[in-house]
Formats: sequence, C-alpha cells, structure tokens
Amino acid sequence: MFDFTFETTPRVICEFDGALKLGALCSELGAKRAILITDPGLQKVGLIDAPFDALKQAGIETLLWTRVEADPPESTILDAVKGATDFNADIIIGLGGGSSMDTAKLVALLCGHDQKLSDIYGIGLAKGPRLPLIQVPTTAGTGSEVTPISIVTTPTQEKKGVVSSLLYPDIALLDAKLTMGLPASITAMTGIDAMVHAIEAYTTKYKKNALSDGLAIRALQLMTTNIDDAVSTTPSQASREAMLQGSMMAGMAFANAPVAAVHALAYPLGGHFHVPHGHSNALVLIEVLKFNRDAARNQYAELARAVLPAERFADDKVACDRFIDFMTDMVQRMPFAKTLREVGVSESDLDMLATDAMKVERLLINNPREMTFAAARDIYATVL
Ligand SMILES: NC(=O)c1ccc[n+]([C@@H]2O[C@H](COP(=O)([O-])OP(=O)(O)OC[C@H]3O[C@@H](n4cnc5c(N)ncnc54)[C@H](O)[C@@H]3O)[C@@H](O)[C@H]2O)c1
Ligand SMILES: [Fe+2]
Repeated sequence: MFDFTFETTPRVICEFDGALKLGALCSELGAKRAILITDPGLQKVGLIDAPFDALKQAGIETLLWTRVEADPPESTILDAVKGATDFNADIIIGLGGGSSMDTAKLVALLCGHDQKLSDIYGIGLAKGPRLPLIQVPTTAGTGSEVTPISIVTTPTQEKKGVVSSLLYPDIALLDAKLTMGLPASITAMTGIDAMVHAIEAYTTKYKKNALSDGLAIRALQLMTTNIDDAVSTTPSQASREAMLQGSMMAGMAFANAPVAAVHALAYPLGGHFHVPHGHSNALVLIEVLKFNRDAARNQYAELARAVLPAERFADDKVACDRFIDFMTDMVQRMPFAKTLREVGVSESDLDMLATDAMKVERLLINNPREMTFAAARDIYATVL
C-alpha cells in the first residue's frame, strides 16, 4: 500500500476557451510547425476552426489533419506519421476524443525516433525522444490526455496498447467549451467509460495506491452527479466542466492503477463489431460488477459511501449492493442500446468474444476476481 510510483502529465491547463491559447503554448515549447490531428466529425461540427485560426494567428504554421478513424487502425497512425513527416512538423497536437489523442501520441513517438509500430505494442518497449505533444480532449471519457497509453486496432481486429511513460503529453489542455455540443449518446458512452476507469482503478488487484484512490473517488463523485445534466437537452457549462475534470482525474487514476475485466470484455466488441469504446464498456459493466461482487465487496461499499451519502453508515453488504443497483439504474437511463444483439452480436459470436477477451491478459490480471472463459461467455450471454 505504501510502495508505489505515480506519474502523470506534467502540466494541466483547465480553461473555458483555452484552446485559443494553443499558439502561445506551441511557442512556449519552442515549436513553429504544428500538425493538428483530429477526426472528420469534429471538423464537420465546426469545432476545429477557432483553434486552427488561433494557431495561425500566433504565427504557427499548422497542418490540419482530419483523417483519424475511430478506434484507430494501424493505417490511421502510419498515414498521420507520414503526413507529419512530410510537413516537417516540430510539434503534435491531438484535438478530439481518445481516437485523435491516441493517434497524436503515436505520431509524436514515431516521428521522434525511428521504430516500427508493430514492435512497440506492450509495456515499456517504445524508445524516445518523441516530438513535443499537446492533448486537447473533446470528449469527457478516455482521459488519454493524462495516460501513458495508446490503443490501436490491429489488422486482425485486436485492440493492442502501446504503454510507455513517453506517451504522457507535455500539456493537457482542458477546454470545456469544446464539449458543450457533444451529442447526448456520445456524452453518455464516454462518461460511462470514464466512470469505469475510476471504478476499475479503485478495485485493481495490482498497483492500487492512495493517490489513484483519491482521484478515482473524486472523479466518480463529479461524474455521477453531473452525467444526467450533461446528457440532457440543455447541458450546463458547470456539468460539462465537471465531466471533463472527472474524466481527467479518472484517467490519472487508471494510468497508475490499471483497469481490468470490464475493459478486457469490452475490447472484442470494439474490435469485431465497431461498438464505440465507452458503449462496449457500458454493455458489460453491470454484469462484471455482479461477477466481482464478493471479491470487491469492501471496495464497492467504499465507492457507495463516497457517491451515495445515504449509504454512509450502511454495512459493506448493503452498501456494495446499493452501488451496483445505482450503476445499473444509471446505465439503464442512458441514451444507448443496452443489449449485444442491438449492436450486431448473435449467439454464434459468444465463443469468439470470450476467446478474445481472455487474450487481454494485460488487464484481466488486475481484476479482483479471476475471470475465466466460461464466466466471460456467461457475461456476454446475459447481455445478449
Ligand atoms: N489512451 C487511453 O488511455 C485510452 C483509454 C480509453 C480508451 N481509449 C481509446 O480511445 C478511443 C475512444 O475515444 P472516445 O470514446 O473519446 O471516442 P472517439 O475519439 O472515437 O470519438 C467518437 C466520436 O465522437 C465525436 N466527437 C468527439 N468529440 C466531439 C464533440 N466535442 N462534439 C461532437 N462530436 C464529437 C467524434 O467525431 C467521433 O465521431 C478508442 O480507440 C479507445 O480504445 C484510449
Ligand atoms: Fe476506457
């Protein structure tokens, strides 16, 4: 409990309209030629124009790169590396959800040191230096702006991670203005993803530590009290800011106390059925919580006491059950499909999903209760 290492992004800036300062921040980092990496959806809703213009006005030559695909395949990364190299970029800016930020991380890494993407999947295999990197999240979800992780979809539809301290950006810039118009379904999916980061960091079997615990609890408090307003038709600035801060804090937590079975079971849904990352997490979350109930009772009870004041004096069993009920009700009222069939999965896919989930050993080892093929298959079958 007392021996741990904690790392995070060295500089975090939280400021409404802060994206307009990107030019000044690039100059501070000594850069003159930026590649702004984002996805076509963000360009379409007009979120890119103001930061892009601000960069140009500050005298930073900027290449706008809008070709990021969701759950970025290797081709998305390599394509952007070529774009950055041809442009001779000296700084990388990721502006978007996890897909854009994860792409930006690897572009900074692969442009900074000659290495092959396929050689660096896993923990600590990447080599530096990397190019300077600024991350600007537009979803309140992945926390990628404060994690050392980049998730890539391989040609065999597996999701693999590059994990390296080199992937912490120089600056995380949180500008809630960019999330004001986030559609309700994406707000809900990404918000649940961030809550899962907090829950799994808090219950992780390895590397659980006092700093991650504190961050996870505060993150969960912020997000559970603000998600309903954030998915409403008129979200307030305050709820958007709370969700963005909460997702960042959850990211800081799980960067140091890793996630577990919810994520492991979610990955095959993203890889094979292109279910968005947060949605895949939401689909399996409740059944994994129930599976873990006995092994994580005390920790779920502590989370209940943190987010449900009425349970403050409840015993572990009652508080733990209340926590699972509370998360179940929350997922139920969110605006997205609740069953696997609705996202294209059929009975005949269950073995394949469970087989692939069991390959995500990197995360399964953190689960409070040992996950087996049979249990994973049962969980998918229950939410079919
Ligand atoms: N690096 C990490 O630590 C980490 C952690 C969890 C997940 N991930 C990865 O992140 C990816 C998922 O990221 P995500 O959930 O943020 O989604 P995303 O980046 O794939 O974006 C989803 C959609 O939301 C749209 N969007 C984003 N912001 C918007 C805004 N403000 N307004 C309107 N539309 C907006 C995008 O255009 C896109 O269509 C997955 O590849 C997942 O594996 C990474
Ligand atoms: Fe996640």
